[in-house]
Amino acid sequence: MTSASLKVLFATSEVHPLIKTGGLADVSGALPAALHALGVDIKILIPGYRQVLDRCQHATPFARLPNPFAPGEVDILEARLPDTSVSVLIVAYDAFFNRKGGPYQTASGGDWPDNALRFGLLSYVAAWLGSARNTSAWQPDIVHCNDWQTGLAPAYLRFWPGRKPPTIMTIHNLAYQGVFGPEVVKALHLPAESFKIQGLEYYGNLSFLKAGIFYCDRITTVSPTYAREIQQETLGFGMHGLLHERRSILSGIINGIDTQEWDPQQDAYLPQRYDAKHLSAKTQNKTALQAALGLHSEKNTPLVAIISRITYQKGSDITLGVIHELVREGVQFALLGSGDKVMELAFVELGHAHPGRISINIGYDENLSHRIEAGADMFLMPSRYEPCGLNQMYSQRYGTPPIAHATGGLSDTIVDATAENLAAGLATGFLFSAMTRQACADALRRAIALYHDPKGWRRVQIAALGRDFSWENSAQEYLKLYRSLAA
Ligand code: ADP
Ligand code: GLC
Repeated sequence: MTSASLKVLFATSEVHPLIKTGGLADVSGALPAALHALGVDIKILIPGYRQVLDRCQHATPFARLPNPFAPGEVDILEARLPDTSVSVLIVAYDAFFNRKGGPYQTASGGDWPDNALRFGLLSYVAAWLGSARNTSAWQPDIVHCNDWQTGLAPAYLRFWPGRKPPTIMTIHNLAYQGVFGPEVVKALHLPAESFKIQGLEYYGNLSFLKAGIFYCDRITTVSPTYAREIQQETLGFGMHGLLHERRSILSGIINGIDTQEWDPQQDAYLPQRYDAKHLSAKTQNKTALQAALGLHSEKNTPLVAIISRITYQKGSDITLGVIHELVREGVQFALLGSGDKVMELAFVELGHAHPGRISINIGYDENLSHRIEAGADMFLMPSRYEPCGLNQMYSQRYGTPPIAHATGGLSDTIVDATAENLAAGLATGFLFSAMTRQACADALRRAIALYHDPKGWRRVQIAALGRDFSWENSAQEYLKLYRSLAA
């Protein structure tokens, strides 16, 4: 089979630039585009959230089916992902998706009460498109599911008669499992006999993610290290047993990044563009950033950036302690993020206590995130666990070495500045092993010490800038996987 004839349905709950809460959206935008460039006939499937419908007003009808879980029909509309020729199929059912608020949560932050039915429908439509029920001219050879929101698709395909294309379940974050009470099994038209350990039952409840992991043909996750970590109790979130059992079909494929969008040489958000040969121009971005964020204009003070969801996963509690400690040693900090309200407040208070040295920006701001990546000297990422992580790759591409906990994709994408790696010109950042404030602060001090040795620092920056994080290699790996499954 040639790649030109390989048809793939890529089912996901968010895709940049239509709707985004995290890295899943970046991957769901960039990976299909890279596969499309390799000749794969790929269509992305996403819910018709209000934000998506607003941005896809020229969508055309693709198919229609009765909603199995609620009155009326579901329209599947087809549009193009903005600025690409990649096709997007939109699950349009207004009562489920066309609302004010986020994809998973209300504007005030609680989960939508009907999430089981909403993402049950997304999964159902993914399966429907793969099954014999889809009589349109386009029928996928592979159904590629992403995270719990699409996890029921492999289950439906298993139970329905007729056509069963192979399915892939990609885990972007094992901590989110789509767990609902047993009563939804019937509401979601799942056979009662599937509700058992050897099925989709999970500690007395239904887990969408477990269903996907159990019934799919291949499991992937977004870095090789995370693929190993999730088979162990510490980071297995209760699924390690099953994942270990299914390890022969489990692999890790590292994410790439969109190297067009994240390119210091052509980034329209930056006051001053630069590349490895003109690194000194990066300083102008620092000066502009300090001015914009109300930080003292000090050229030689290390400026440390944090851009992240404020959560336990991201080690935001550790970040808080480290900022508290290091600000007294003359370091500047710029944080952009949102999440846990208690921690948000603690950051804001710390910022108020150190005007000119700490800038806390609560919210989501794409433009500012680019200017921070370019203007900061280093990037802090003490994630407790990190399936892949994207910001450490963005920051390396911007010559802003990351300081990160050695876990998951952070281990796989950062070359630690050991004496050996430094001597070989390979070091691109700073890793620490123990998940403690002390270890994180020490790694940061290690980075700051090197920062004050301009020649040594420049070598790390140049090595970081030179890394290839494009999707090219990883897209090839997915293509290989698709081909082996479709064969
Ligand atoms: P996760 O998906 O677990 O949050 P990733 O590192 O994979 O982590 O992806 C996070 C993505 O969200 C990155 O593209 C990052 O730049 C972006 N991001 C996170 N918080 C913010 C914010 N407050 N403003 C702008 N972009 C953000
Ligand atoms: C999840 C993970 C993150 C990963 C992203 C994209 O949000 O937390 O590590 O980069 O998915 O795969």
